[in-house]
Amino acid sequence: AKTGQLRGKKVVITAGGTREALDPVRYLTNKSSGKMGYALAQAAAENGAEVTLITTTDRPTNYGVTKIFVASTQDMYEAVMAAFPTADIFIGAAAVSDFKPATLAQDKIKKQGDGGVTLHLVQNPDILKTVGHQKAPHQLVVGFAAETNEVIAYGQDKLKKKQADMLIANDVSSPSIGFSSDDNVITILTPDQPAETLPQADKLTLAREIMQRISTLK
Ligand code: C5P
Repeated sequence: AKTGQLRGKKVVITAGGTREALDPVRYLTNKSSGKMGYALAQAAAENGAEVTLITTTDRPTNYGVTKIFVASTQDMYEAVMAAFPTADIFIGAAAVSDFKPATLAQDKIKKQGDGGVTLHLVQNPDILKTVGHQKAPHQLVVGFAAETNEVIAYGQDKLKKKQADMLIANDVSSPSIGFSSDDNVITILTPDQPAETLPQADKLTLAREIMQRISTLK
């Protein structure tokens, strides 16, 4: 039987960067590696949780987790909406594309003489905001915010707008931390407690710290 502070809890986590198709062979994406989401999945599993990881990237896992692979934000949104009703905790660690091409070209987009092309982008659904606004009292919603400046101020604003219970703000202005790197510097924001900045550490160490704080909120 599983032991740990999150035993019996179902945790749904998103990970990786979404891919927004332009045509059959091209897509728009971002630099996310999925490492933070996988570290959170491991930390949650170590705490006894039943973990569902909705992810765009495949990484090795030697712990118990159900992986659901998705590509686009719309796919991720639908997978989250299907999993969230029975979840106790949702953690949005994916780098979700805010925009997607307005149309998906059926055939490969061709060069048009020497001119460029103009891409028309439309807004994607905000997964974290949707679950934050529809959560039941027993459900806990945690988000991330990658910022390059005014990390705490923008983080506090996001915590409120998305109606999250916890927001992990990280400074991505330095190349040694954040996207794809093994280390991160994070600040944990909650509605009722003062902001807490943790010392630079590897993502698994930070994920365990985050999970420990989440389990005290549950
Ligand atoms: O608004 P911003 O993209 O900075 O918020 C980041 C947080 O919101 C992350 O937790 C990310 O996973 C989530 N998000 C989302 N759906 C979007 C955009 C962001 O779930 N369309």
